[in-house]
Amino acid sequence: MAGPRTMAHNAGTTHGRDQSAASPLMTLTYRSRATTPLSESQLADLQRSAAARNRAESITGMMVYNDDRFFQWLEGPPASIARIWSSISRDTRHADIEALSVHSAPTRLFANWSLKLTTGKGDPLMGDLTAMLSTNAAAERLAALVIATEPTEARLLLLAAHAEFRSISALTELLIEPAARCLGDLWTDDHCGEYEVTLGLCRLQTFLREVAADSVQQHSEHPLVVLVAPLPGEIHMLGATLDAEALWQAGHDTRVRFPSTEQALERIVATNWFDAVDLSLSPAFTREHRIERMSHIIDSVRRASKNPALVVIAGGRAFYDRTASSADVHSDGSSTSATHLSDDIARARCGHA
Ligand SMILES: Cc1cc2nc3c(=O)[nH]c(=O)nc-3n(C[C@H](O)[C@H](O)[C@H](O)COP(=O)(O)O)c2cc1C
Repeated sequence: MAGPRTMAHNAGTTHGRDQSAASPLMTLTYRSRATTPLSESQLADLQRSAAARNRAESITGMMVYNDDRFFQWLEGPPASIARIWSSISRDTRHADIEALSVHSAPTRLFANWSLKLTTGKGDPLMGDLTAMLSTNAAAERLAALVIATEPTEARLLLLAAHAEFRSISALTELLIEPAARCLGDLWTDDHCGEYEVTLGLCRLQTFLREVAADSVQQHSEHPLVVLVAPLPGEIHMLGATLDAEALWQAGHDTRVRFPSTEQALERIVATNWFDAVDLSLSPAFTREHRIERMSHIIDSVRRASKNPALVVIAGGRAFYDRTASSADVHSDGSSTSATHLSDDIARARCGHA
């Protein structure tokens, strides 16, 4: 492998890291528990020497030290990751070391940090995650971070929360969906523009894909074929992405489509068999002006459907806030969170039977 000086020269990057597209990248995340609590200076020493070795090994990443627990994200060439991981796993300063994920990655998430360190209580970024989640503070923080020019801290917060919960459902219901609503509130209160809301939702969607990369599908005794789509004309896709992930994890045969017109949606249900259709409006805005149109679209979806007993579920902030109901949009049920969607469909199917 080329030395750091050569790599910095070749790639024209700072910090001597190899950014060349040709070299494969691997990411590894793990969590562990400190064998004895680390003082601030011990932690700073650890970070300094680890960052120096990471620089020499073309590794970048971040580490959270919170409540005597570590969570670390490492990224770099596979051979370097293997060497560093071998050292880390032999280190007696921590125990209960549990690898969370290892996979190849197209790009670096922490390209500017050899080892970004963030700590627990009192840290302006993390605060006390658990306490923050019991109020809406973490979601508000995430919403503010996700529309910043550089969204790395938003990503960090989500990664740390994921390490804490290890559940996409919990992350969705406790953090991502509330953050989407906070983005809508920021717009209502004139703290940001519509463009920023859309940007923030797109970024949440990207970060979700990153943390859900390793998610596994449960076995379902009765998998359903479900079409997941944003309502034609709805530009916010985050709701459909969360719904698709939740239904896939629950074991359903999930088909995601983005029909741009009502006719395109009708064609999809006319030419494919679906047990259920999930149509969603924005997770950030209540979209009052779209509710009546949604009812017409759902009527025409039923008429066009290959399945005469099609179950239709409506989702979006309007249904969470109860500014609209399933009766208003002629659906068989409405969903207040992606995490309940599979149950909402099952309940609506019982109603149909
Ligand atoms: C929680 C924790 C995280 C660490 N992260 C890194 C790291 O990212 N890079 C690194 O070189 N060393 C890291 N270290 C230190 C290594 O475990 C090890 O002490 C150091 O790399 C020297 O390696 P050696 O003991 O094999 O000579 C970490 C140690 C701990 C306890």
